[in-house]
Amino acid sequence: MPKIERFLADEAATGAFGAELASVLVSGLVVTLSGDLGAGKTALVRAVLRALGHAGKVKSPTYALVEIYAISSLYLYHFDFYRFNDPDEWHEAGFREYFNPHSVCFVEWPEKAGGLLPAADIAIRLRIEGTGREIALEAGSEKGKRCLLGLISNPRSAPRPPLPQAGEG
Ligand SMILES: Nc1ncnc2c1ncn2[C@@H]1O[C@H](COP(=O)(O)OP(=O)(O)O)[C@@H](O)[C@H]1O
Ligand SMILES: [Mg+2]
Repeated sequence: MPKIERFLADEAATGAFGAELASVLVSGLVVTLSGDLGAGKTALVRAVLRALGHAGKVKSPTYALVEIYAISSLYLYHFDFYRFNDPDEWHEAGFREYFNPHSVCFVEWPEKAGGLLPAADIAIRLRIEGTGREIALEAGSEKGKRCLLGLISNPRSAPRPPLPQAGEG
């Protein structure tokens, strides 16, 4: 499975990468987003939505658990399970139905939903690195792999710089 790693130097780089990611999305994808608070998970989903033509607000679904965006023929569901702790809520809210062949689901804090969540097609990890962000994307399915291959063949943001050597600076 391909793995992509990039360094996003600033928020503009996150915006540009979000546009790249948006260009390879296909319906039925489940994309998980892992990383600490402030790592840039919501910022990346916001960038994807902007690139898809969503002009309105993109708020963090921390309290609502999910925000729904209907973009032309595509439903994009943006989940945040940071505050999720009751499996009954999953069933009552009908979350299972959100994961279907016609939707794209972005999921922050997937680990908090445990086994309820379908397997990720693309698992994204974000990490604060200096004043920027390091992003790593890994495919978990053939479908996810095809998307990542689209990104690899069309790289627009800079590859990550080499790590500083010990003793430098
Ligand atoms: N590539 C980047 N470099 C520096 N700061 C960034 C970058 N991408 C996003 N940010 C900033 O980092 C913060 C990320 O917040 P947010 O997306 O809410 O994080 P999370 O959803 O992971 O908790 C925002 O303040 C955003 O402006
Ligand atoms: Mg968030």
